[in-house]
Amino acid sequence: MKIAIIGAGNMGGAIARGLAKGTIIKTEDICVSNPSQGKLDALKAEFPAMRITHSNVEAAQDADMVVLAVKPWYIEQVVKELPLDAEKQMLVSVAAGISFEQFESWVGEKMTVFRVIPNTAISQLESMTLIASHHASKEQEQLLLDIFNEMGLAMLIPEKQMAATTALTSCGIAYVLKYIQAAMQAGIELGVYPKDAQRMVAQSVKGAASLILNSDTHPSVEIDKVTTPGGITIRGINELDHEGFSSAIIKAMKISCVK
Ligand SMILES: NC(=O)c1ccc[n+]([C@@H]2O[C@H](COP(=O)([O-])OP(=O)(O)OC[C@H]3O[C@@H](n4cnc5c(N)ncnc54)[C@H](OP(=O)(O)O)[C@@H]3O)[C@@H](O)[C@H]2O)c1
Repeated sequence: MKIAIIGAGNMGGAIARGLAKGTIIKTEDICVSNPSQGKLDALKAEFPAMRITHSNVEAAQDADMVVLAVKPWYIEQVVKELPLDAEKQMLVSVAAGISFEQFESWVGEKMTVFRVIPNTAISQLESMTLIASHHASKEQEQLLLDIFNEMGLAMLIPEKQMAATTALTSCGIAYVLKYIQAAMQAGIELGVYPKDAQRMVAQSVKGAASLILNSDTHPSVEIDKVTTPGGITIRGINELDHEGFSSAIIKAMKISCVK
């Protein structure tokens, strides 16, 4: 299977690197196109077998899958210039907010199109990746899941949930980082060195996520294990709720959900 990646920025570059490190696609079957040279050179230096070009048309013409990783406002122009074949190729768009309806109007009704929303942890192969499909077979959906499961965790969702789930994952990762930043500030005030506080808090967040993901328990169950009656943790938990912690997170997620 040959893959073209159009755009070698944060997302395109991370997907190219993730694919090259994965087991499903051969590095020589990945072709990345980008207008400026520097990002292409960086990819080539890391993965000499990867193909690079300035021409989107050249990248796409013999690809089975074309990944669009340019800013949303360039998508229409880029996609209309590509020599796409709906019988043989599939389109994968990472562009936020570009709907299947818009793609249909640009590439016709028959094309298999996926909307894929990774988050920035894709660079660590720890992305939460949302995948919505349009005119795709079960095999094609499984292929996308297999590819992006090698870069973290991938889930199929209906397109109508895209905005809500993007708020939880793409925006949500920034809220978790904000928690890390705030907890570090507390640690520093309490006399912990910033670098130490950073590692302590980040590992605690990673541990909390592992507890949920590995044992599939509800957060309340894990919180209950830490909150000894009359103890110090329940005092802090109650203080968070007096200060509107849960409410602030719910409001942030809702305001980030733009349909
Ligand atoms: N960052 C995120 O967290 C995130 C999450 C999910 C989805 N996305 C989506 O991912 C897409 C890319 O975002 P990004 O953060 O990766 O942006 P980015 O870092 O700015 O990358 C965009 C790349 O596209 C290239 N480009 C511009 N015009 C092009 C053209 N006509 N043909 C081919 N390549 C072209 C740019 O090249 P030059 O630099 O040479 O101009 C740049 O390398 C967006 O649609 C965004 O909605 C991003």
